[in-house]
Amino acid sequence: MSLLKIMSIIGTRPEAIKMAPLIRVLRGTAGVEEVLCLTAQHREMLDQVLSLFNLTARHDLNIMKEGQSLTHITARALEGLEEVILREKPQMILVQGDTTTTLAGSLAAFYHKIPVGHVEAGLRTGDKYAPFPEEINRRLNSVVADLHFAPTPASRDNLLQEGLAPDKIFVTGNTVLDALKTTVQPGFVFPDPLLRKIDFQACRVLLVEAHRRENMGSPLEEICLALLDLLRAFDDTLLVFPVHRNPAVRGTVYKYLREHPRVLLLEPLDPLSFHNLMARSYFILTDSGGIQEEAPSLGRPVLVLRDLTERPEALEAGTALLAGTKRESIFKKASGLLQDSAAYGAMARAANPYGDGRASERICQIILHYFGRSPSLPEPFEP
Ligand code: UD1
Ligand code: UDP
Repeated sequence: MSLLKIMSIIGTRPEAIKMAPLIRVLRGTAGVEEVLCLTAQHREMLDQVLSLFNLTARHDLNIMKEGQSLTHITARALEGLEEVILREKPQMILVQGDTTTTLAGSLAAFYHKIPVGHVEAGLRTGDKYAPFPEEINRRLNSVVADLHFAPTPASRDNLLQEGLAPDKIFVTGNTVLDALKTTVQPGFVFPDPLLRKIDFQACRVLLVEAHRRENMGSPLEEICLALLDLLRAFDDTLLVFPVHRNPAVRGTVYKYLREHPRVLLLEPLDPLSFHNLMARSYFILTDSGGIQEEAPSLGRPVLVLRDLTERPEALEAGTALLAGTKRESIFKKASGLLQDSAAYGAMARAANPYGDGRASERICQIILHYFGRSPSLPEPFEP
């Protein structure tokens, strides 16, 4: 039987983290040739993940430029991907999530009539500008894709409501939990000496990560002001904030937080360090999507720094809270958790509605089945 050529297209940090376990499974599957193509919409933050997971790419479009626009990413990625697709002629293209690389990847595949598998399909807020531009990226992806790998039953239901064929939607769990399974280690020693110095018993570490485009400007300023209020009100807290490389994020975060003696501003951490830091933090404040999915496995409460989330499962499970992006509401929610140990205990439970660490195996089997190379489909993920 001829080799089945599957091409994965990724561009940013979360796509790399979430595709790494699947790429590993595909590369270990007899009869499959996996080809990795990077748009490199992110550069350093992508390379950091690829090197941690030992992933090599056959193609690298290297499109990132400082303060890039959405049009720049889309146009450069589309042009570059065409050349790669014509050269490789894959039988299926895999894209992940909702970035602009994801959209360009599925469009490029569509222009060459190559079937698309969409990993992490069906997340929705219902508001086209929140998150921006991800909500529209993911909706457009669902129109183009041939196989939809929905992480949860709720994401499957969103796709069904949009009229997609039920036999093309599969509940697999989120691959981010496959990655997390391999990274969190009880005796982990941080390579960063500043992290090694933290006494996690003597202080409460609040871990922060924020980078969404719709939070740039005044929402991010409000977030920083709320963090300063918290530091003032709770003198046993230490704030650790690995700052995303987006210059719009760095400008604001450094302006407000740089001087405070109980704030540690770091460069983006590799996922091994970041996951182990999450595991030791008291709670996490973030607007990141992936972190909302990971934290429940570690029993760490999450305050979501957004007005809406496409990941309602953790809110329903009681391990995450929507804190909004206003100074007062963030302070109120966070100080509630810092003061009330019963409320904290109720949230700090390790139960993950997003996956069981076996999503990549399921996705691989579904792809093989689609091409007539597996007699059966896997059992769906059940939270
Ligand atoms: C992108 C995704 C977002 C995802 C996020 C994950 C889009 C439109 N946005 O947002 O969905 O949640 O990645 O982190 O697809 N930069 C560097 N080095 C890097 C990465 C970024 O210098 O390794 C800087 C560059 O100046 C770049 C800017 O950050 O122009 C913004 O990067 P971009 O990918 O456009 O947006 P993100 O906010 O990172
Ligand atoms: N992450 C990381 N280092 C950091 C911050 C986050 O490795 O300094 C990981 C995090 O564990 C999660 C992923 O990056 O797996 C989330 O990516 P990001 O927040 O950039 O994007 P989003 O999930 O919001 O699209």
